[in-house]
Amino acid sequence: MKKNKSPRSPVGVFDSGIGGLTVAKSLFEILPNENIIYLGDTARLPYGTKSKETVIRYSVEITKFLLNKNVKMVVVACNTASSVALQYLRKVSSVPVVGVIKPGSRAAIALTKNCNIGVIGTLGTIQSFAYKTQIHKYERDMNVFSKACSLFVQLAEDGWTDNKIAELIAEEYLNEFKKLKIDTLILGCTHYPILKNTITKVLGKKIQLIDSGEEAAKEVKRLLEQHHILNPQKRPGRHKFYVTDFQKKFKEISERFLGQPIHDVKKVKL
Ligand code: DGL
Repeated sequence: MKKNKSPRSPVGVFDSGIGGLTVAKSLFEILPNENIIYLGDTARLPYGTKSKETVIRYSVEITKFLLNKNVKMVVVACNTASSVALQYLRKVSSVPVVGVIKPGSRAAIALTKNCNIGVIGTLGTIQSFAYKTQIHKYERDMNVFSKACSLFVQLAEDGWTDNKIAELIAEEYLNEFKKLKIDTLILGCTHYPILKNTITKVLGKKIQLIDSGEEAAKEVKRLLEQHHILNPQKRPGRHKFYVTDFQKKFKEISERFLGQPIHDVKKVKL
């Protein structure tokens, strides 16, 4: 039985690094009065290339850190961690744990007309088949085509999002989806929404893009309402950021992902 925390407690969000700030951005927009604590495991990223066991261990450590900060909900912004660790996090957590896979899958099923859905993500996410399994749990008759697009992470971090190289790489990864006649593509990685323009340029406007992070933020709002723990405060929520290492270019990358500068960042040891 999960205990309900005080509505004034913060929502905890974590990611392998700062990519999850795209999810934090959606949360800030959808839930402007919530206090939010974000942890980016910058010392140990990337998660997308690591083994399932390692990603589970890291994710459990971070969830315990967030629980110690008295969070009322844990949001797993990282697609790779959501793919492999969710059930383990729910075992150690006294509060609800929300991942990005279910909300992203549901949105894709609701949007597709021809039942052909594409999924892109890290190697870890794609090899886990988490999206495919989830989509088929909801709807047996969906065709799901998946592809790991590892280089997109680096492109997004380097700010190479709208140039010729980004376009060439996107073409190489995504051209097969055109042949497969998908009409909906799940952006199953924190970094990919940064490349939305280039992805649309390559695939055309007819293929609808699903931002799993944005869908997860809507789910968080729904769950807070359902558990009667929406923060009643009228003033804007406080946002606190923790990292496990100060990555080079932290400020630049974080601003690009969040759309605003970050002020309150602390380095922590887990
Ligand atoms: N945050 C990861 C994800 O969404 C991408 C970066 C990484 O591999 O750590 O899967």
